[in-house]
Amino acid sequence: MSARTRPFPTDFLFGAATAAYQIEGAAHEDGRTDSIWDAFARVPGAVINADNGDVACDHYHRYGDDVALMKRMGLQTYRFSTSWSRVRPDGGALNPKGVDFYKRLTDELLDAGIMPWLTLYHWDLPQALQEKGGWTNRDTADLFTEYALDMHEALGDRVQAWTTLNEPWCSSFLSYTAGIHAPGHESVREGVLAAHHLLLAHGQAVRELRARDSGLQLGITLNLTVADPVDPTDPADLDAARRIDGQFNRWFLDPIFRAAYPADIVEDIRAVDAEAIAAFEQAVHPGDLEAIATPLDALGVNYYHGEFVGGSAPAVPVTGGDAPTDRPASSPFPSHDRIHWHDRGLPRTTMHWEVQPEGLTRLLVRVQEDYTGAKQVPLYVTENGAAYDDVAVVEDGEVRVHDADRAEFVRVHLGAILDAQDAGVDVRGYFYWSLLDNFEWAWGYEKRFGIVHVDYDTQQRSVKDSGREYSRIIAERALDV
Ligand code: NOJ
Repeated sequence: MSARTRPFPTDFLFGAATAAYQIEGAAHEDGRTDSIWDAFARVPGAVINADNGDVACDHYHRYGDDVALMKRMGLQTYRFSTSWSRVRPDGGALNPKGVDFYKRLTDELLDAGIMPWLTLYHWDLPQALQEKGGWTNRDTADLFTEYALDMHEALGDRVQAWTTLNEPWCSSFLSYTAGIHAPGHESVREGVLAAHHLLLAHGQAVRELRARDSGLQLGITLNLTVADPVDPTDPADLDAARRIDGQFNRWFLDPIFRAAYPADIVEDIRAVDAEAIAAFEQAVHPGDLEAIATPLDALGVNYYHGEFVGGSAPAVPVTGGDAPTDRPASSPFPSHDRIHWHDRGLPRTTMHWEVQPEGLTRLLVRVQEDYTGAKQVPLYVTENGAAYDDVAVVEDGEVRVHDADRAEFVRVHLGAILDAQDAGVDVRGYFYWSLLDNFEWAWGYEKRFGIVHVDYDTQQRSVKDSGREYSRIIAERALDV
């Protein structure tokens, strides 16, 4: 340990996160039916190398060992998601075998002294519901509420922290407008409808869960960002930053915390697709915004990178992002043609995402100032992590991954959280994404985010150097400076 350390508050929670489709496998076992990701992965070209989640990390069968590993690593909490099509196949009646898996998993966690942090929807809609329009169909919000109540019935005695949705921006715009995620549609109309129905599903579920059980910690997880204009004196660059902030942040934060959609973004969309906005306005029924703004106990912030944007194209286009293609980092909004991504020379991960820890500090300060502070809603960083080209080596018979970049990534982002706390932000926990290398959506198994290496041929888990470093920080509850 170095001479000086920065301690974390005694109640600060250290955890790691995963999601059902990305790790469970057992895609056709014990009554589980297809989700939109099973179907999408079969579409030629949708996922790199035609990878899918059929086996993934085989966590469905190895959850006991995985929980034991988490305990050895010193994790205090584990964020995972439940698979809707496992517990209500085809979105219909309850499947006791599917529910039983999550009872066993949460029991195992509790026995290990690890707090379960459950997310109800991490993008894997039952395919049967997609065939009825998926999130563009308002009924899906009601079915989600039923599913949430079923899960509470089964796990309410074991799980206190409930998150409705993970990153609804991805399950709406990236999925129904950009076509990059399942179901792979390219429609502005579908994107705005899906976003509204997802938010409605969230609000309804929070309301119903709270009515059933006032002791729960209820929240949502959003993927938020900081958008910096290339030239803060150039109106076109400022406008690009405004659009990014509106699309990623305000489109979700405003309805949740202020019961209103951001008028400027509604108008941006109207300007390019009036029909889409007309359909959206019809879909927002009286009372919806009040439901969406049902008070929360926690806001989950997923932060990976900032955005450096301008109104005119850079000399050298910046590639990468959520899609394994050469297209510019995507902004699947109708106004994306007015936004250009620039490079400011920051280091990048293999997703081509900038490493910009001070953006996390600024983001947390801003979210508290503009949204959560007035309502005294604490923040949790529910995801933050990096993909690097790991090299597994065998040393003294042990698999090692010397991922110094990722260890540094964890350290600097934890430092950014301490900076936010110093600035007065109520941020109470950090979940590294991800515990395990796993199925990285359209990128398949090509991108590794884990602090634990997974050998997909043998399913052997090996803690990377970054995982060892994270364990050390957790044990010391402090960062060296
Ligand atoms: C956000 C998502 O929630 C998660 O599923 C994904 O793997 C990570 N970001 C990394 O892209």
